[in-house]
Order: sequence, then C-alpha cells, then structure tokens
Amino acid sequence: MDDNGHKTCISVDGVSYSWFDKQICNNISLKIPKGKITVIMGPSGTGKTTVLRLIGGQLYPAKGRILFNDVDIHKLSYKELLKIREEMGLLFQSAALFSNISVFDNVAFPYREHTNMSKEMIYHLVNMKLEVVGLRGARDLMPNELSGGMARRIAIARALALDPSLMMFDEPFVGQDPITVGILIKLMEQLNKILGMTIIIVSHDVEECFKLADYLYIMSGGKILGEGTVQDIQGSKNGHVQQFINGKPDGAIPFHYTAQPFSEDILNVC
Ligand SMILES: Nc1ncnc2c1ncn2[C@@H]1O[C@H](COP(=O)(O)OP(=O)(O)OP(=O)(O)O)[C@@H](O)[C@H]1O
Ligand SMILES: [Mg+2]
Repeated sequence: MDDNGHKTCISVDGVSYSWFDKQICNNISLKIPKGKITVIMGPSGTGKTTVLRLIGGQLYPAKGRILFNDVDIHKLSYKELLKIREEMGLLFQSAALFSNISVFDNVAFPYREHTNMSKEMIYHLVNMKLEVVGLRGARDLMPNELSGGMARRIAIARALALDPSLMMFDEPFVGQDPITVGILIKLMEQLNKILGMTIIIVSHDVEECFKLADYLYIMSGGKILGEGTVQDIQGSKNGHVQQFINGKPDGAIPFHYTAQPFSEDILNVC
C-alpha cells in the first residue's frame, strides 16, 4: 500500500546501478500503484530506460531491491523471471518488430512461444489485439510496409498479447504525428480505465504526460528530483524540475554531457 491507500504494483527501494565506474541510477525509490498511470520524466541520458530494464529484470541493481506484486524480481530463477515477465508488457523505445515476418505473425509470436493454444484460438486473439489498436486491416502487411506510428501500435498489440497487468511504455510519443499521439493517449487511457491496467510511461513529452499522469516522477542524473501529481510538479520549487517542465535549454541541468575540457581534446589530436 502507498500513502494514499492504493495497492502497490511495483516498489523500487533504494536502487543503485552502475556501468563500470559510471553511476546510472543513484539510490532511486519509486512506488507504482496498481491500476494507475505513473509517468517517469526527465532529460535524455538520465537513466529512465535503465529503470524500466531494472524493473523487467534485464539488469541487476548493485544496491536495493525491486518488488513486483511483492516478489523480489532479482531473486527469481531465470525460469521464474520469464514467467513473471508474461505479466509485464514492455513497449521499447523503438518498435522492435521482427522485420522478416508479417504483422499477424509478430502479434501471434507470444502465443506460439508461451502457450499451447490452437491455430484457431491464436487467429481470433491476434485479430482481437489488432482491433484494440485499430489495425486489424494491416494484419497481412510486413513491418517495412508500416509507418512509424503503425509499427508502434502493432508493437503495443504484441505487448498486449498475454494480457499483462502492467504495461511499460518507453518514449511512446517520439517521432509521432499529432493524430497518432492522440490515438496513443486514447489507447493508454482505455487500457487503464477499462481494463484497470497499471501503466508506466517514460517520456520527455511534458504536455502529453501531464494529460495522462496520475502521479509523476522527475529524474535527472540518475536521481529522483521531484514527485507528485501534475499540480505538485507544476508548483515545484526545484530548479531542475522547473527547467525541465518549462523546456529551458540551460540551467540547473547542463546542456553538455560530462567531458574533458575542449582545449585538451584539440591538443590531443594525433
Ligand atoms: N547498455 C549500456 N551500456 C553502457 N551504458 C549505458 C547502457 N545503457 C545506458 N547507458 C548509459 O546510461 C545512461 C542512462 O541511459 P538511459 O538509456 O537509461 O537514459 P534515458 O533517460 O532513457 O535517455 P533517453 O531519454 O535518451 O532515452 C546514459 O548515460 C547511457 O550512456
Ligand atoms: Mg530512454
């Protein structure tokens, strides 16, 4: 349970993660309530996708723990992890469809891989998932015949195949036209309101996230800088948070990725 009495789907408790000597997540704690839309926002390269990969068990924290429905993800055997991942749908930053098989076969893949369903059953379920994203008519196309927005919706249909209780969307709006953004927002709202799905959205699109979020976390430099409802975040006194939500190019968050002085790079030319 969180402080507002909601059941917790995911609890990230004091998680740190490093890649060699680079600290990517620094003592992060998040609560993802069941049946709500939680948004993680922050500038590029700040560790947002890394948090999703830690939740999905693709990465292991150096410190802290992550509970999914009270189960410690990183204490599971590989077989148990694969089973629990069926509960989690992940939409990658790229659509990541299999390029050499049709839309139908992409969406059918999880059923063929994880279940013993009959051909007929798979046929009906694939059509249902494609109907949810409005692309049943694109069933026989190959991925290279899809627009970027269509590919993303097919990837959502595939992620929905096994009826996960949690969906994680990594940068769902990037590179999409305003109509597709509107369709994606409506789809996420429906998954949440009609099916009661828990949703995590990782994004830097402030406007879209403010429309959708029940609760937001703002990350920068591998840390959580602010959290709360849209109103809380808008009223935040934190300079980093204000710089981010108001889109100021420079401020508390530097524009430049850490580097040695430019003069040294010039002098070191061989
Ligand atoms: N597999 C990896 N190996 C080494 N470093 C990585 C790896 N993945 C991410 N990083 C580093 O971790 C940091 C955080 O990356 P991450 O992808 O989590 O950022 P992000 O907030 O999702 O950024 P964006 O908004 O651009 O997608 C970056 O500095 C990146 O260079
Ligand atoms: Mg990312």
